[in-house]
Amino acid sequence: MNRREDPVGVFDSGVGGISALIAMKRLLPNETFIYYGDTRNAPYGTKDTDEVIRCVHDVVARLMKEKIKALVIACNTATGAAAATLRKELDIPVIGMEPALKPASELRKDGSILVLATPLTLHQDKFERLMEKYGEGAIRVPCTGLMELVEQEDYEQAEAYLKQVFSSYDMNTVDAIVLGCTHYVFLKDMIRDMIPPSVAITEGSDGTARQLKRMLQRNNLINESGRGKIILETSGTEKDLRLMQKLLEKDNILDFMVRI
Ligand code: DGL
Repeated sequence: MNRREDPVGVFDSGVGGISALIAMKRLLPNETFIYYGDTRNAPYGTKDTDEVIRCVHDVVARLMKEKIKALVIACNTATGAAAATLRKELDIPVIGMEPALKPASELRKDGSILVLATPLTLHQDKFERLMEKYGEGAIRVPCTGLMELVEQEDYEQAEAYLKQVFSSYDMNTVDAIVLGCTHYVFLKDMIRDMIPPSVAITEGSDGTARQLKRMLQRNNLINESGRGKIILETSGTEKDLRLMQKLLEKDNILDFMVRI
């Protein structure tokens, strides 16, 4: 059976994963993507692992009904909690995300690396293993409440929040900031303006898009001639769908449809 024309399923706890979706759409313009924002159950990052796994199972069951050919967990928190389990359970490629600490460690001179992520991401074994490999100089910075400000489009509060966070560090001794939550990628320009130009910012959208492409190639699943649609779904409200659309439109991605 030719599955090349089937959609790729992508999900997050809300709009955060749209940042990864934008990178995937750019790299793989012929693919159909179904994006599911589990906004009703957001945030994932302050739940415990079992609760997140339960939420993820519901989302994945729904996406599997749409005959997805690959699954992208566009959420660092859900990847740490559920990727290993999903890889055992599903017979399709599963692509996850993790805080981009490896590229940050490559850019590090002798200063520190601030890893901004949800409390759950920063407490997971998966992150501990990443720290063992690439964590020299890295500091965990849990940002409880920050994803909510992105969901509410409250950029003023987000800026005040980040100002407060950065005031605890001498930014001249920081070499890199890792945006270890897909929601924070929408604050990247704001953060850029708040920190010295010498501080690098790393995040995982492009790496995830490249990994998806590799996995599709390896499994002979690349859609060479599709029209490249995006379908948006949510467990939340129409307002949540509108925000997803707005974030795509900001990046000039206009060929999407919403499904309620
Ligand atoms: N966007 C998610 C991440 O990358 C998590 C946000 C949340 O639900 O707490 O970790």
